Amino acid sequence: MTGRFRESWDGIAPIGRDAGSGGYLRYALTAPELRLREWFRTQADLRGMPVSEDGNGNLFAWWGDPDAGGPSTGGPATAGPNTDAQTTGDRAGTGAVLTGSHFDSVPHGGAYDGPLGIVSAFLAVDELRAAGVTPVRPVVVAAFVEEEGARFGVPCLGSRLLTGEIDADRAAGLRDAAGVSFAEALGHRPAGADPALLGRFAAFVELHVEQGRALVDADAPVAVGSAIWPHGRWRFELRGEGNHAGTTRMADRRDPMLTFAFTVLAANKEARLRDAHATVGRVAVEPNATNAVPSRVTGWLDARAAAPETLDGLVEAVRAKAAERARRDGTELTVTRESATPLVTFDGGLADRLAGLLAAPVLPTGAGHDAGVLAAHLPTAMLFVRNPTGVSHSPAESATDADCAAGVVALARVLEELACH
Ligand code: GLV
Ligand code: MN
Ligand code: MN
Repeated sequence: MTGRFRESWDGIAPIGRDAGSGGYLRYALTAPELRLREWFRTQADLRGMPVSEDGNGNLFAWWGDPDAGGPSTGGPATAGPNTDAQTTGDRAGTGAVLTGSHFDSVPHGGAYDGPLGIVSAFLAVDELRAAGVTPVRPVVVAAFVEEEGARFGVPCLGSRLLTGEIDADRAAGLRDAAGVSFAEALGHRPAGADPALLGRFAAFVELHVEQGRALVDADAPVAVGSAIWPHGRWRFELRGEGNHAGTTRMADRRDPMLTFAFTVLAANKEARLRDAHATVGRVAVEPNATNAVPSRVTGWLDARAAAPETLDGLVEAVRAKAAERARRDGTELTVTRESATPLVTFDGGLADRLAGLLAAPVLPTGAGHDAGVLAAHLPTAMLFVRNPTGVSHSPAESATDADCAAGVVALARVLEELACH
């Protein structure tokens, strides 16, 4: 499997790689990501898996008939002994098992975040076929669009659209840095919620590279996800007075950069005080000139915490400190929440069942995933593959071919368990 993984991986490795940083520029619906979507169709064709689209930019390759069956009616396809009946009991014996992930990257991101889940899904299908295993319900490989939110600002945009968690009109109007709207990039207005399609899925299992070092510490190649920390993005817009850097007396300035700098330090301090995470990784300055006091600074706060009330307290503390500093600087502050993802606790029965099946550890994560969005709608699980550097959203992200192969074998066992009995 290690050789087959490498061969498949080499097929996508050059796509969107920046020669300078070694990282990836695979923004949703731009040329590199469109090439990856073509690769997806080719892989599906090679395996005789018809591809359907949901009108939101998400692709689905079906091992099984995409038109057969219908919304689920009874028969707990994924129910294990501890499975919560409310989350699994109304799902059909014929409901499809969905797997896959996303192709898009953050700017100069790593190779594995996203694509590993799609490549592994196709290889897991091969693994089951080679073993002569036949699914009794469809296995579906998905490529979700704009998971990172790196182009249009809202993470997990494709899965939020499919599940109705974002309004189609709002999504249509989201614009990238060049002013292109999501609807323009997609070529049409997104279709929005598709409860009929969603109802065809009995479970979702997303395989993903681990984005920390827990598996290095646990000395294990694969883990099962237990939860995703609640998290979100807040835009802090600070307006002051643009002016000449050489002639404006220090006492006369209304400099939003000062308020911004204070806000960044406050975010770091408030997060540390709460064992939470706060990051300001993106900033826009106007007019962005060395010899001008800025007129406007916009910073994006990414905040995450283990508990929702901790997250709320963190963001409120940063907002209050920024507002207080703005008063002293003579600047104006507007805070806008751009996205929010509540605490996700994956289906406990399913996680325990998969952890038992794979003899794998169970881990929470602070990273967001389409699995976190889908978990509110169907029994969902995640598999994590060890990342020796523990680094992610960076070219330093890594995974060995042997661990990726172990991930494929683990995913194949999970798909067999969920779709083939
Ligand atoms: C996605 O990777 C996120 O956690 O922001
Ligand atoms: Mn990511
Ligand atoms: Mn990801």
